[in-house]
Amino acid sequence: MLLYEELAHQLRTQIAQGTLRAGERLPSIRQLALHHGVSAATAVQACLQLEREGLAQARPRSGYFVRAAAPLAPIARSTRRRAPGTISNPMLQDVLDMLARSDLLPLHSANAAAELLPQAALTASLTHCLRRTPQSALDYAPPQGHLELRRQIAQRYAQLGVAVAADEIIVTAGAMEALSLALRTVTTPGDVVLVESPTYHGILQAIATLGLKVLEVPNLPDRGIDVVRLEQLLQQNKVRAAVLVPNFNNPLGSLTEDADKQALLASCARHNTIVIEDDVYGELAWSGQRPSLLRRWDKHGIVITCSSFSKILSPGLRVGWVIGSEWTDALLRAKYFSTVGVASLPQLAIAHYLHRHDMERHLRRLRRALADNGQRLHEGIARYWPQQTRASTPRGGLSLWLQLPPDIDVQALFEAALAAGIGTSPGMLFSSRGDYADCLRLSCGMPWGDTMDRAMRRLGQLAARQLR
Ligand SMILES: Cc1ncc(COP(=O)(O)O)c(C=O)c1O
Repeated sequence: MLLYEELAHQLRTQIAQGTLRAGERLPSIRQLALHHGVSAATAVQACLQLEREGLAQARPRSGYFVRAAAPLAPIARSTRRRAPGTISNPMLQDVLDMLARSDLLPLHSANAAAELLPQAALTASLTHCLRRTPQSALDYAPPQGHLELRRQIAQRYAQLGVAVAADEIIVTAGAMEALSLALRTVTTPGDVVLVESPTYHGILQAIATLGLKVLEVPNLPDRGIDVVRLEQLLQQNKVRAAVLVPNFNNPLGSLTEDADKQALLASCARHNTIVIEDDVYGELAWSGQRPSLLRRWDKHGIVITCSSFSKILSPGLRVGWVIGSEWTDALLRAKYFSTVGVASLPQLAIAHYLHRHDMERHLRRLRRALADNGQRLHEGIARYWPQQTRASTPRGGLSLWLQLPPDIDVQALFEAALAAGIGTSPGMLFSSRGDYADCLRLSCGMPWGDTMDRAMRRLGQLAARQLR
């Protein structure tokens, strides 16, 4: 590496790591030369190199500054309208199979990186429970779940002003099992279920597996579920249930505000539609302000709430829950006949963790880190990706949704990224019928640093290559 390239590399790393941030001045040519033991000409060459890469900008008589990336254009709204139908997304399984590799940089996975989760404290809680109460840790858990854990969950809801008794909570293997049990309990094959567009592909797969039809209501990037369209759809169709993610839609990260939450509940109550509320991201507001649950506004007892600890403590312990209102007994029977109960040890360990540790402190840190990652991801994309790339502006959660210029084949970009060891989620995963072929979801769960900077640059190059 030539001397100027070495110096440019060091400055690039400082920008990538945030030591030098957008708008800040780079050290002067004199300082660079002095501190790095190079000539002034070499220092100038390094700055010119960063300027060519779009990372720095010269200002007359002031020196070089870290260039602020132009803000990304907002994502377009989804407008497609369709009658209820069966889910048909033939590529979905292939794409998920291709992503089932452990060697990828996991930008496809809506999870927080291990370093953002309290791994040491959870490990200590697991060890403690196994040592102190091996009998209970290794035995069957009660089908409804351990009471200590259900009490802790109920207490957390009480802090939000939502009255839930421990008796109403059923512990499940993650939110995914909660959603499946809820759907299985309230629907029969052939029923129509409303979902958002775009939405999490696990919800779509659960609906497909149960032989249900799907009807899509747009989720608007800037305001969440389109409640006006939802009312029209419920007027025009007999919809048995709606599976909704009002708190930080996956993939958009949008938030449905309280007034719209109340409006959508009123619509569902009027049309006898049961609401299955998926609140896995509810704790992950980037502003720090925890949004309300639909359940809080539920006057008619039509809401089933599903959630989990996967996004905030550990995805691998597989502990979630469902709160079933009048369906609690039916859900409990369904749970018993599917898996008898959730493994004891993870339940006891999470209850122990919640009892011993300051969960709110952990959540504050996690939210701040995700907001920062999201901001850096935006900057990285603006800096390295083709200019017309659009992006969502998430209010919370773990993902960023991108819309690429029309010339880019997102499936080819996804495959090229895989070959480069980077996992991404093509947009069509988030639609019942393979829409969003021009979109891509990236995870905000990875802290920014060299690896992320390199990955964003590589993805930008792969995308730009298709434009030529
Ligand atoms: C909206 C949504 N619901 C449910 C899940 C599944 O959560 P769990 O891992 O707790 O089963 C996910 C995971 O990505 C999700 O994004």
